[in-house]
Amino acid sequence: MAVLVTGGAGYIGSHTCLELIAQGYNVVAVDNFCNSQPESITRVKELAGKSFPFYEIDVRDESALDEIFKNHDTDCIIHFAGLKAVGESVKVPLMYYNNNLLSTIALCSAMKKYNVKRLIFSSSATVYNGANEMPLTEKSLTGGCTNPYGWTKFMCEQILRDTAQSEQDWSIILLRYFNPIGAHISGMIGEDPSDTPNNLMPYISQTAIGRLKCLSVYGGDYPTNDGTGVRDYIHVDDLAKGHVSAIKYSTAHTGTEVFNLGSGVGTSVLGLITAFETASGVKIPYEIAGRRPGDIAVCYASAEKAAEILNWRAEKSIAEACADTWRWQSLNPYGFKNKL
Ligand code: NAD
Ligand code: UFG
Repeated sequence: MAVLVTGGAGYIGSHTCLELIAQGYNVVAVDNFCNSQPESITRVKELAGKSFPFYEIDVRDESALDEIFKNHDTDCIIHFAGLKAVGESVKVPLMYYNNNLLSTIALCSAMKKYNVKRLIFSSSATVYNGANEMPLTEKSLTGGCTNPYGWTKFMCEQILRDTAQSEQDWSIILLRYFNPIGAHISGMIGEDPSDTPNNLMPYISQTAIGRLKCLSVYGGDYPTNDGTGVRDYIHVDDLAKGHVSAIKYSTAHTGTEVFNLGSGVGTSVLGLITAFETASGVKIPYEIAGRRPGDIAVCYASAEKAAEILNWRAEKSIAEACADTWRWQSLNPYGFKNKL
């Protein structure tokens, strides 16, 4: 039996494929490389010390999915494939709704057809309403998303809940990630944004390596300890392990269950910059700029439900995540490519 990983070449997918193999699972991965590189899969195979089937397909392509379900005895799916750039989603919302919703629907239709009814879905803390108190629990209010990307996750969650409701043998786990950072300790795989990074950590590391000149800190007047935004950063290896815990849980449970995957600890932008400078020994040039539209001051998880039910907790520190990110960035200044 195999775990089918969609978006397996991406940042979180590649680390999860590696973790699944390390824990003895058979993996089949698919990706259309719209935001990743084939080299990522090559390196996962190298690190794992074994090969696994990989298919370059678009998850919206039902006939391509047919072939995969026919060829591989699959008992569980992790659905990472999706577009994730918040700003881009505001400019091209239809592309986001098309990709993220239709891939989820096509996947569930194929799962139903082949009687594979266990799915782990990549959701996001972005589905929570901005008015909630911190920490966010799985019962906090959702909706009122500030961008189309967030709505696609909100809508996919609903599609999946309705699907699980329709037949008793579905087991669907919605994992709401907080802010993934870090890289595999080998420095061979990591986050490789195709354009100028939107997210803080890759912006910091590309500034450190000299690809970018100066980091803009979006807002220095938030009601936080140092005036900058606070987020819940979680090492991507911990996140990968969270998926394996979710798979184990789903073998014995049906219906839909939601879990936050976060550390439960908030770190400010300046706090992350300082941690990165300490880990890398490189000074990060930055300037305090205006607030970024749509941002909230503070966002962090209650990680208790995952601890109690999945027996999973984030273990790696911000310092380890910074050291791992720097190793990845300095060994691969241009990511998986040799140059820009
Ligand atoms: P990523 O872009 O690195 O990985 C997503 C992968 O999916 C890419 O390799 C891309 O090529 C592939 N893909 C996209 N659409 C596809 C399609 N239609 N068919 C086949 N492949 C397709 O992103 P990531 O950071 O690894 O995120 C993985 C998932 O987690 C995404 O669904 C994302 O929305 C979600 N998520 C990410 C974050 C984050 O901050 N990284 C936070 C919360 C949720
Ligand atoms: N920030 C800067 N400068 C930058 C980039 C970010 O100061 O160049 C700040 C932001 O204002 C925020 C913090 O750094 O205070 C983190 O910002 P990110 O863009 O890295 O992350 P977000 O919390 O805004 O959002 C991310 C993902 C979303 C996801 C969310 C919750 O981009 O897709 O985490 O999981 F939904």
